[in-house]
Amino acid sequence: MVEASDLSYAYQGTDGPVPVLRGTDLTVRGGEFVAIVGPSGCGKSTLLTLLGGLEQPQAGTIRVADRDLRTLGAKELESFRQHVVAFVFQFFNLLPTLTAWENVLLGLEAMVPMPRDARQRADQWLERVGLAAKRDRFPGQLSGGEQQRVAIARALAKETPLVLADEPTGNLDEETAAAVLELFVAAQRMSGSAVVLITHDAKIAARADRVVELTRGRLHEAPWVARYGVDWPAGSPPAQAGRGPA
Ligand SMILES: Nc1ncnc2c1ncn2[C@@H]1O[C@H](COP(=O)(O)OP(=O)(O)OP(=O)(O)O)[C@@H](O)[C@H]1O
Ligand SMILES: [Mg+2]
Repeated sequence: MVEASDLSYAYQGTDGPVPVLRGTDLTVRGGEFVAIVGPSGCGKSTLLTLLGGLEQPQAGTIRVADRDLRTLGAKELESFRQHVVAFVFQFFNLLPTLTAWENVLLGLEAMVPMPRDARQRADQWLERVGLAAKRDRFPGQLSGGEQQRVAIARALAKETPLVLADEPTGNLDEETAAAVLELFVAAQRMSGSAVVLITHDAKIAARADRVVELTRGRLHEAPWVARYGVDWPAGSPPAQAGRGPA
């Protein structure tokens, strides 16, 4: 589903380019759930925007669902963002002048053709995230956690082959986070979606098929995170990792 290799990305700083990704590789199979962990500022959100075709890497290649993102024209890229990938942004990106329901519907209306059951789907997904009663509220009338759940409903309602989620449970209490996480797992099962999810929470990471850690601009497998937490020194598994149940 995702084949990213040797990605480089640098932001332009006042004293020249600031490299964030330096030879990053990532492979995600269809229907696989991959959690990305790593310290704040290491480039996780940056990587996700590249995978979603929102930015282009300065070097390296990204293939998603058999498309080489570099070769897509503006129209193809737009279609890719509407049909192949759904994004849950770290800061939600809800439109303030639309209600919760309208925000969810908007993502579906952008699809060509628009799903015939778009309106029902918008209701269904708001119900699944526990916000049926607040469907007509504007984002400004919702708590941070509620806005986050609207953003999740908006993404999952599209039922795309790839879901990219940037700390989607970051503003939720433990119980709600666990419930919302199950929606990603349900999307994986029902729509066969591959899920790439950024998290700081070892419990969330533990639910993924695979955990990878981004450090010093590169990704590596980090299976110990699910058991030992995300606070181990970057790139160094605890000595006892892999010795059987703790
Ligand atoms: N628009 C920008 N211009 C310049 N530097 C940026 C920009 N956006 C991000 N950065 C820098 O790039 C690095 C990676 O940022 P990114 O947002 O990808 O980190 P992150 O791993 O998602 O962090 P967090 O866990 O805090 O969300 C950081 O050092 C950040 O300061
Ligand atoms: Mg981030």
